[in-house]
Amino acid sequence: MAKRVPVIAGNWKMNTDVESGLKLVKDILDLSKDFSGVDKIVCPPFISITSVAQALSGSSIQVGAQNVSANPDGAFTGEVSTSMLRGFISYAIVGHSERRAMNGETSAMVAEKAIAAANAGINPIVCVGEDLEVRKAGNAERYVAKQLEESLAGYTDWDSLIVAYEPVWAIGTGEAATSEQAQQMTHACREVIRKLAPEAADSVRVLYGGSVNSGNVVELMDQPDIDGALVGGASLKADEFSKLIAAASAS
Ligand code: PGA
Repeated sequence: MAKRVPVIAGNWKMNTDVESGLKLVKDILDLSKDFSGVDKIVCPPFISITSVAQALSGSSIQVGAQNVSANPDGAFTGEVSTSMLRGFISYAIVGHSERRAMNGETSAMVAEKAIAAANAGINPIVCVGEDLEVRKAGNAERYVAKQLEESLAGYTDWDSLIVAYEPVWAIGTGEAATSEQAQQMTHACREVIRKLAPEAADSVRVLYGGSVNSGNVVELMDQPDIDGALVGGASLKADEFSKLIAAASAS
């Protein structure tokens, strides 16, 4: 089995403006240029995507969107289509728990977005994760497996897929999952892929997300089913994000 290339992806969420976003990527570029063997991704807000993509053109850092529309064009106020993004981005986060919770995105909608992205040559990063109530009830594995299966309904472009397991209770709380919990759940995600596409199960990258920082990344990345991290807060600090890239490069 070929080794899966590790991924460090930064989700800036609704932070930075065009100017500070450009400064952030320039600093990351500077601090992380010596680290190879890792896919480095930044996902700025839509308003910064063109300028960040231009600044990173020809560099080792790739750009992603935080969301895409499943629709090609038309009367969808405030939405951004894959064809508008094509050429600027290589990745798109779909189904982040904040969009599921605050924008009413269902797994069926997430599946449509993942397919639209893949059809446009954009690699989707499909996010799943349970909230605290589900975990406390002991249903985390079953819940996430179902959520992932539904979020990949009709999806066939396995080479382009990245999955991110992000427990809602660990996002932005400073309380990451333990490496055992994260391993168990990323393994469960991989088993869903194995069921849907057995030939792809060992090559699809599965990330962990939720309060990842330079203090816990090594232990998390040491787990056999964790191929990298989707990072929120720590992706807004160039030195901290570069430490994550360094750790992934050494993994
Ligand atoms: P966090 O966010 O690293 O700030 O917990 C992760 C995410 O939402 O992707």
